[in-house]
Amino acid sequence: MKKFLFVFVATSLSHLTTLAQVKVTSLLCENRVNPIGLGDAKPRLSWIIESTQRNVMQSAYEVRVAADAASLQKGNGSWGTGKISSGQSVYISYAGKPLQSGQKYYWQVRVWDNAGKVSAWSPIAQWQMGLLQPTDWKAKWIGVGYEEDSVLRPSPLFRKQFATGKKIKSAAAFITAHGMYEAFINGKRVGDLYLTPGWTSYNKRLQYQTYDVTGLVVQGNNAIGVMLGSGWYRGSLAWENNRNLYGKDLGLLLQLNIAYTDGTSEIITSDESWKCGTGEITYSEIYNGETQDARKEKPGWTTAQYKDAGWSDVRLKNFTGGSIIATENEPVKKQEVFKPLQMLTTPGGDKVIDFGQNLVGWVVVKAKGNAGDKIVLSHAEVLDKEGNFYTDNLRAAKQENTFILKGGPEETFEPHFTWQGFRYVKVQGIAGELRPGNFTAVALYSDMPRTGNFTTSNALLNQLQHNIEWGQKGNFIDVPTDCPQRDERLGWTGDAQAFARTAAYNMNVHSFFAKWLKDLAADQLPNGIVPPVIPNVLGRNAAGSAGWADAATIIPWNLYLAYGDKKLLEDQYPSMKAWVGYMRQSSTAYLWNKGFHFGDWLFYRPGDDLDGRSAVTDKYLIAQCFFANSVQLLINTATILAMDEDVRVYSNLLKEIKAAFLKEYTTASGRMVSGTQTAYTLALNFDMLPEALRESAAKRLVENVASYNNHLTTGFLGTPYLCHVLTRFGYDSVAYKLLLQETYPSWLYPVKMGATTIWERWDGQKPDSTFQNPGMNSFNHYAYGAIGDWMYRVMAGINEEEPGYKKIIIKPHVGGGLTSAAAALQTYYGKVSSSWQVKGDHIQLQVEVPVNTVATVFIPAERGASVTEGGQPLSAVKGIKITGQEGSYVRVEAGSGKYVFTASQ
Ligand code: BGC
Repeated sequence: MKKFLFVFVATSLSHLTTLAQVKVTSLLCENRVNPIGLGDAKPRLSWIIESTQRNVMQSAYEVRVAADAASLQKGNGSWGTGKISSGQSVYISYAGKPLQSGQKYYWQVRVWDNAGKVSAWSPIAQWQMGLLQPTDWKAKWIGVGYEEDSVLRPSPLFRKQFATGKKIKSAAAFITAHGMYEAFINGKRVGDLYLTPGWTSYNKRLQYQTYDVTGLVVQGNNAIGVMLGSGWYRGSLAWENNRNLYGKDLGLLLQLNIAYTDGTSEIITSDESWKCGTGEITYSEIYNGETQDARKEKPGWTTAQYKDAGWSDVRLKNFTGGSIIATENEPVKKQEVFKPLQMLTTPGGDKVIDFGQNLVGWVVVKAKGNAGDKIVLSHAEVLDKEGNFYTDNLRAAKQENTFILKGGPEETFEPHFTWQGFRYVKVQGIAGELRPGNFTAVALYSDMPRTGNFTTSNALLNQLQHNIEWGQKGNFIDVPTDCPQRDERLGWTGDAQAFARTAAYNMNVHSFFAKWLKDLAADQLPNGIVPPVIPNVLGRNAAGSAGWADAATIIPWNLYLAYGDKKLLEDQYPSMKAWVGYMRQSSTAYLWNKGFHFGDWLFYRPGDDLDGRSAVTDKYLIAQCFFANSVQLLINTATILAMDEDVRVYSNLLKEIKAAFLKEYTTASGRMVSGTQTAYTLALNFDMLPEALRESAAKRLVENVASYNNHLTTGFLGTPYLCHVLTRFGYDSVAYKLLLQETYPSWLYPVKMGATTIWERWDGQKPDSTFQNPGMNSFNHYAYGAIGDWMYRVMAGINEEEPGYKKIIIKPHVGGGLTSAAAALQTYYGKVSSSWQVKGDHIQLQVEVPVNTVATVFIPAERGASVTEGGQPLSAVKGIKITGQEGSYVRVEAGSGKYVFTASQ
């Protein structure tokens, strides 16, 4: 018996040692886990390698792909790479047999490490193709066949009954709509996505979604039911009563592809055989909210038992849009839920629920009452000074959901085609005390994986990070919006570019922005000018503003840095170049000093400004800086894409732009026409000044900060770069003073005022608790959250040395009297982390470097300090190379693994 046991243990051990110490995990296809409905004929595959060892790299890989699990194991599927000697573990383009529409593919990968040992095959991942060819669409567009109520426009219902005689092997539904849709098969909801088909530049690009509905379709009688809402397509958008921007009639396109076990298949489509009617949603719009009258429900309308004799015929619609495209980004889903934090009765006598967090989504309410009882839920972000419910800042957006009961057992309500931005909910129509258990707030946002974590020893900073994250959650609803509550909620380009880099730390925003950038390119005008909101619902108004239109260059480049995706640069290059082309065309002698510009939006401007303290920055000075920056990013991109001629041409242009800047906006001693923080920040950040003038300019910036008693004065355009510039020129301590400043204007002032999101204005609520101008006072606007980038990149010190983090720089900046800061980032190679602690006279730095990457680590240690790793003198640690002393850091090269560095004086 004993001998037996020994033999068993010995064989399992030897089995372990013949394999590499690595494991392949987290398989991604086009940046997503097991995506469904891919439109890309050559999807790209990525994986993560894990190991408990240090200094592990991939030396080779083997990928296999098949349409069924059996062929996958046998290796005779659609694609087998064989062993490829390569360190590449992200974006391996599929290069096998042509992929088929609607087909599911299974894949796995194994890798060889740098010791030449092979891993086990990874777990099997999969993807499913969408409809690749326009001819794959057999469905017809349908709309209602009856006269619509032109004011209320109740949500139409569409239904189709059908029978299947055979056993079902698989079924996939492909759905899109003019308007928003929610679909059901046999009484069950199709999928868990909301606000579909999402928002794109509908006239040019309309997304469809793909669903695996194998479990919903049955052998025998079936019914499909779909309801539509006005949504972005025809609801009020871009301020009050601006409706029907894309069209006035809703429409549905649906196709159900069923495969039977006997090898045959069938397609059910939207067509003239469908029926339509109306149900309980009597009104629904994004800004105003939804009204449901449960008495008008059609119970069972999505089941085969339902009798639709009284329903109307549908009408075939002519589709007049551009392309119908697969969904590229993660759709909106329900995310966190919140129970009431407190139930209040305001001084004004309103019954109000406080959910404790300014969030974006809606409230699910349970109620019991009589037929015709009406519950009205109104939504607000804040209570006013007296504690009353405050909605003035919503402008014309009602943000009100109305539910009319049918009576009988308890009823549950939630809206479908709208959302609200709120922390507080006023409840009308429920007699007596409200029961907290009957109300649940649900946060909805695009289903982007969380990638970042950031904490420090300072509770206010932690709340700031929380607020930044919630600003992102609330405004990443299929497109990056300025705000989620008032009658706006538009894809403002300036806000998005200011925040994009921070966003890429908190969550994986790769596909989210990749999709939106395609809309940006689609909506760009022939002369290259970029509209201020994408999708463009403002026409030509305010197009081409510096710092807004530059989203065309800044976001692709930032995404490239974060994710290393060259294809994204290739896709966006024409758009980037066209935008630069526009600025060049509208310049005179290389000076771009024309046109409309928003400028440094919402900069510091005291009320009764007798002393001239307002931080006004010349708009054309700003424009010239952004012009140069966009050209620089175009040069960077052209270099990556090996477009040598463009590199040459734009490098020459850049020189001229900077020379023109110096001549027009700077004195010989480097003083600028605007002496503001934003002016110096932009000039320094974008290298507008020659080396000789930079130190003095940085000093002027520091003096300016001091003159405001260590307060920032920057608006949307200066804020993202302010602390970076201070750090770059050696003024970390000033950056920390700004970050830790608790009085207005500062990042922590709103935190001290109880904010749970980032505010649009530095003083949305003033120190005396009154509010800023309600015409523009959102309490959920992410732009100023752009400081998050400095917090991750500088405080905690996580940087990409090579785009996508194949090479990493860890360079923490200890300061501000903090005793610790820690950040982690999930990259496509795995987790990078950096965490420092000040303990008495020594500093400890813990670092994690993912497999298949290398890091340059800067350990905060003055010359002569003794540095150890894991208790060993640095020089004695195998695999770490000390490469020098740089200022107050010891610099080392480290391979993958976890490290604990300690430096003591
Ligand atoms: C939006 C901003 C936007 C701005 C343009 C506002 O109404 O809310 O965030 O960038 O207009 O200046």
